[in-house]
Amino acid sequence: MKMITVKNNEELASLACSFVVDKINRIEAPVLGLATGSTPIKLYAKLVEKYKQKKLSFQKATTFNLDEYIGLPSDHPNSYHYYMSEHLFSHIDISPENTFLPYGLAPNLEKECAHYEQLIKTRGPIDLQILGLGENGHIGFNEPHTPFNKRTHIVQLDEMTRQANSKFFKPSEAVPSKAITMGIDTIMDSKEILLLVSGSKKRTALKHTLHGDVTPFVPASILQAHSNVTIISDEASISDTLLES
Ligand code: GLP
Repeated sequence: MKMITVKNNEELASLACSFVVDKINRIEAPVLGLATGSTPIKLYAKLVEKYKQKKLSFQKATTFNLDEYIGLPSDHPNSYHYYMSEHLFSHIDISPENTFLPYGLAPNLEKECAHYEQLIKTRGPIDLQILGLGENGHIGFNEPHTPFNKRTHIVQLDEMTRQANSKFFKPSEAVPSKAITMGIDTIMDSKEILLLVSGSKKRTALKHTLHGDVTPFVPASILQAHSNVTIISDEASISDTLLES
């Protein structure tokens, strides 16, 4: 894994943006895997900026998001459908029919998982998958102990994840307890992976991802087994022990 350390989330976003721009400009019909959460918000703002400056077009791009909550309608402000529309899709020239997210209100959720996998198979492979890192080491919504061979599936969210993500919800609102996520196996099929890590709350997870055993206890540790991973992490996410190693 290649690791690049930057000063803060602003620099992280600029560097990640150049990765995405390069991928879009070099590939005829690029397929991007997208993440949500607070970490990539500035990255999406920078991509929108590039588009507005006419330095980038998403006309030929296809996107697959990692995950979506079960039970939230697409227009709910905390759904990832809404997030993607707010932060990226509604500001750029991507065709809505080329943007995919799992549908958390599907009448048959198992079928929805299989359908999503099929779509990735048909339209993929994913050229560049952007990932964030959960405080507990999750990627997508693959919580600790998820077997590495999982494809898109339904997950029960950890209390730690629900707590971390409650920052996006009103105090009166419950964070959903379930989600649909691409599996680790699905993520590992991506040709290239860009893991973005920002903030001091990620220190332990990042340390284990980089230097710990490859174990389902730390889902992101599987990235050690992928041949093309770049990690962009800001100074706050680097623990002292990591700097020494
Ligand atoms: C959520 C998403 C993950 C994301 C993680 C980190 O749980 N499902 O894909 O990587 O949050 O979020 P943040 O960037 O807000 O720390």
